[in-house]
Amino acid sequence: MDASIIYESMTGTTKLAASLIADNLYRYGVESTVFPITAYNPDEVAKADLVIVGSWTDGFLVVGQRPGRAKRFDALPDLSGKRAAVYCTYAINPGKTLEKLSAVVAGHGAEVIGGMALHRKRLSTEASEFADRLMSVVRA
Ligand SMILES: Cc1cc2nc3c(=O)[nH]c(=O)nc-3n(C[C@H](O)[C@H](O)[C@H](O)COP(=O)(O)O)c2cc1C
Repeated sequence: MDASIIYESMTGTTKLAASLIADNLYRYGVESTVFPITAYNPDEVAKADLVIVGSWTDGFLVVGQRPGRAKRFDALPDLSGKRAAVYCTYAINPGKTLEKLSAVVAGHGAEVIGGMALHRKRLSTEASEFADRLMSVVRA
């Protein structure tokens, strides 16, 4: 099984989360390709069985949260027929960032099967938990 992980990151946290998620999916034999939203390879994404989209949380810390630089996700390809999952990283409170990102990804045609908000200080444990949860859904 192959996955493509597409992220938007301003200061590197969401990028690091993408590679930690890839490492943890590999425990299940899933091979991932990791791309920034500004430079993904459409052929690789088209081949992937699972597409994971990640963003950082933008907002006023506890209100108005949304995916950071969300406009960039307009460039996602058509994901019709694909299973997808979303994640966001955050500092204090992700609010509805995950739901908003799910809606964007679903708007590109994907079936969104799950999502998780990862605290920027707990990336390692939470990326591992996210991969475990995702694989339990994918393999059910
Ligand atoms: C302009 C700006 C607004 C932010 N707003 C929020 C917020 O509303 N809630 C929150 O929990 N974190 C907020 N954060 C923190 C980031 O979402 C968090 O540090 C994230 O992991 C950064 O990811 P990145 O390094 O990939 O850019 C904000 C950060 C920035 C730069």
